Amino acid sequence: MTTQRVVFVAGARPNFMKVAPMLRAMKAEGTFESVLVHTGQHYDAAMSDVFFDELGIPKPDVHLNVGSGSHGAQTAKVLAAFEEWLVAQPTLPRGVVVVGDVNSTMACTLAAVKLGVSVAHVEAGLRSFDRAMPEEINRLVTDSVADLLLTSEPSGDENLAREGVDPARVRFVGNLMIDTVAYELPRARALNVPARYGLESKRYALVTLHRPSNVDTAERLSALVGFLEATAERAPVVFPAHPRTRERIVRFGLLDRMQSNPRIRLTEPLGYRDNLGLMADAWYVLTDSGGIQEETSFLGIPCLTLRPNTERPVTVTQGTNTLVGDDLAKGFSLVNDIVEGRYKTGHPIDGWDGRAAERVAAVLAEKWA
Ligand code: UD1
Repeated sequence: MTTQRVVFVAGARPNFMKVAPMLRAMKAEGTFESVLVHTGQHYDAAMSDVFFDELGIPKPDVHLNVGSGSHGAQTAKVLAAFEEWLVAQPTLPRGVVVVGDVNSTMACTLAAVKLGVSVAHVEAGLRSFDRAMPEEINRLVTDSVADLLLTSEPSGDENLAREGVDPARVRFVGNLMIDTVAYELPRARALNVPARYGLESKRYALVTLHRPSNVDTAERLSALVGFLEATAERAPVVFPAHPRTRERIVRFGLLDRMQSNPRIRLTEPLGYRDNLGLMADAWYVLTDSGGIQEETSFLGIPCLTLRPNTERPVTVTQGTNTLVGDDLAKGFSLVNDIVEGRYKTGHPIDGWDGRAAERVAAVLAEKWA
């Protein structure tokens, strides 16, 4: 009998570090043959290739090359292209594994379930309760139709139970993003990244911003730039800008102002290890990313999240994260707490132990073999 195939979907930057440990664990577990599909939602070398190279992810078996577009257009392109690929296979795969909450996650889930293919969603049950956030819609749709819901923190299980999901569909596996942090940390540290940027260890802030709610209006983005200028008085800032953010900085006429501040360093998007090396040695991190809230909690680095809500509440209750929301005065006072040594230190989080991918592989073998 030929080995059954399980398809792993990767579309955008935050997916790649979750897929890497799963492909290794699937190989070690041995029940299934893994097939990797890259939708092409992210396509620049700095947003995609660098992660495949550094994380040792095999070349995708298929690349759907969908590219950017409006939400409707991008989702539709992924849905159509993934369906077309699935039906062109000699036999349908045993299952499809999707991760996270990007448009590719939702689109591939819809294509697969409509063909009767089982879908496992890794990072299921997370909810920001903010439907203005495109990812929240992707999470709700994906979880409502996927067969197997694999959760990363207690809130995921709680949300799914409250939504009436049959507990037989849900398994807690822990956090795959942390598998990759744990695996790559020694290599990232060995690169001495802060020194390469002329930064003193534990005496700089790392900043990332890319959510539409933060970067898509001139008013909000200029307020955030003003906030960064104020915090830069306390610690120099390194800010690797997502392509979306850089485009808005230029469009809203903020580039000169940022570049003329010697304590703010705007860079291109970083590779995985450079980013991890900078994060692991930062004094604190300012972000609107979901993954970075998790990574900083694991690393014990203070994190101020420039959003009013989080779908990852365990990072606030047990980790090192605090939500700043629109209250930038609160943000500034928290920065002072951090630099003056009054900020919380956080606790280890259950299932964030570098072994989540092994648990995913075991659940898939149990459910799908
Ligand atoms: C997407 C995800 C978001 C995730 C983020 C991480 C959705 C709804 N959003 O948002 O959840 O946190 O990725 O990065 O799926 N662009 C490039 N090069 C690329 C990709 C994009 O230049 O390789 C530019 C394009 O001009 C594009 C813009 O960035 O219009 C935004 O990209 P898009 O994929 O639409 O959304 P992200 O903001 O990256």
